Amino acid sequence: MGEKLILFGPPGVGKGTQAIRLSAALRVPHISTGDILRASLQSHTPLGNVVRGYVESGKLVPDETILEIVRDRLAMRDARDGFVLDGFPRTVSQAESLAEMLGGIPPRIDSVVDSVVVLDAPTDELVARLSGRRICESCQASYHVTSRPPKRAGTCDRCGGVLIQRTDDAEETVRFRQQDYLQKTQPVIDYFVKNAWPVRMVDAIGDIDQVFGRVYAAVFWR
Ligand code: AP5
Repeated sequence: MGEKLILFGPPGVGKGTQAIRLSAALRVPHISTGDILRASLQSHTPLGNVVRGYVESGKLVPDETILEIVRDRLAMRDARDGFVLDGFPRTVSQAESLAEMLGGIPPRIDSVVDSVVVLDAPTDELVARLSGRRICESCQASYHVTSRPPKRAGTCDRCGGVLIQRTDDAEETVRFRQQDYLQKTQPVIDYFVKNAWPVRMVDAIGDIDQVFGRVYAAVFWR
């Protein structure tokens, strides 16, 4: 049976970066609600039309839409024995629904999910990470202008695509996302703790390899 993990934390803390590594190391799928939503925008699906305004302005997509996406994704065969969830849950209501979806006895989930890794870093660092992030227009690979630059400026190492800035990484939108996280998403940590979810707090300051070492240790040396 594979690991069932949740990566949690503010915008820009490195959830996606660490989730990709964990998913490769553990051979379980990386399920990012943000990636699923952005893919729907790019391919102009009906879902994309519904969520575009929210995602581009950095606002949370309504719970019922997100829950439908996650329910469908978790029902896929590859997620049956393990997964790394990235960007979900983000509200108490999403956390309660996740417990139900996974067959736990809500509000507890400790028998179903192995670890909830909560990454944390100061706001200045988060803003620096988001303002320097660039993603590939074609394959969505993620870079950073200083901490993870591509070999050729502006070009994706993986597919040669053009690197762009995410619309929601504009300065004002980043400020809004950080505020919104503090108001609506950070309180979910209290909910996790109160209901004995297996929370592991991890300091996300340091380079990507250092943080990965801490995440791995938190997940396996529990
Ligand atoms: P989503 O894509 O989930 O955005 P987010 O949570 O704001 O997180 P980010 O992707 O911005 O950051 P990250 O923590 O993954 O950091 P990353 O690894 O990229 O969601 C986007 C939108 O979709 C939301 O705003 C909302 O509209 C909607 N949505 C999604 N889920 C939802 C839900 N459950 N409910 C409702 N709405 C939802 O790293 C950032 C940068 O830092 C990169 O450039 C990276 O290279 C660099 N970096 C990473 N680690 C380090 C390090 N240790 N040192 C230096 N640089 C680093």
